[in-house]
Amino acid sequence: MKVGIIGSGVVGQQLGLGFLSLGYEVRIGTRNPEKLADWLSKAGKNASVGSVHEAAAFGDLLVLATKWQGTEIVLQSLPVSSYRDKIVIDVTNPLDSSQGGVPRLDATEDLPGGLKVQNYLPEAKVVKAFNHISAYIMIQAPREEGVPDLFIAGNDPEAKKAVSEIAEKWGWNSVVDMGDIHSSFWLETFAMLWIQFGFRYNNWTHAFKLLRK
Ligand SMILES: NC(=O)c1ccc[n+]([C@@H]2O[C@H](COP(=O)([O-])OP(=O)(O)OC[C@H]3O[C@@H](n4cnc5c(N)ncnc54)[C@H](OP(=O)(O)O)[C@@H]3O)[C@@H](O)[C@H]2O)c1
Repeated sequence: MKVGIIGSGVVGQQLGLGFLSLGYEVRIGTRNPEKLADWLSKAGKNASVGSVHEAAAFGDLLVLATKWQGTEIVLQSLPVSSYRDKIVIDVTNPLDSSQGGVPRLDATEDLPGGLKVQNYLPEAKVVKAFNHISAYIMIQAPREEGVPDLFIAGNDPEAKKAVSEIAEKWGWNSVVDMGDIHSSFWLETFAMLWIQFGFRYNNWTHAFKLLRK
């Protein structure tokens, strides 16, 4: 199985390592391949770096991990053949950082970021996931205080099942399906709580647990 990762920041790099640890081949797509030299040197023989178009064409499954401001232009440049019928794990958060300080959410309940991504990639199976989790714990869920929950949203039940199974291999033993891609809004607002806590307490390894009773 091959994974194409669009976005070469800490999220793309960490999830890349996570998929490599599960035996996948991984290609990260970036405008600047040379900045992935360190990652490549520790990632091993199943890892590669290329352009965004090369990474998308390479993957049977895609990960979207771009800064929000670059997301639309990147996705709209992709040929349909590079994402048709593929699962796309959308980790992005639609953030506006233009005013400094804590970023603001650039999404509405009617048009969340996950729905925009699904609209940019109409023939893909977009699953919003991991957007409310620090990149550094995405592939290693258990914490000292327990195992947090992972919330996901998307239109395709089989795609959500496949993403849940991958997450479980990284220790996410409770994956909560919040509904179709419109529900990505709740994951994005949830990420804002996560971000607010991070700024307020200068802590970036926190995560949430849903206690049902
Ligand atoms: N950091 C976290 O812990 C965390 C946790 C949850 C969710 N997220 C979300 O995950 C996404 C990735 O976060 P990150 O921290 O890994 O990295 P980031 O710094 O937010 O974004 C890195 C990627 O965005 C691409 N990019 C930036 N501006 C662009 C533009 N104008 N046009 C095209 N591409 C552009 C870069 O492409 P090039 O490689 O071509 O330069 C780079 O690959 C974000 O949406 C973030 O909100 C982050």
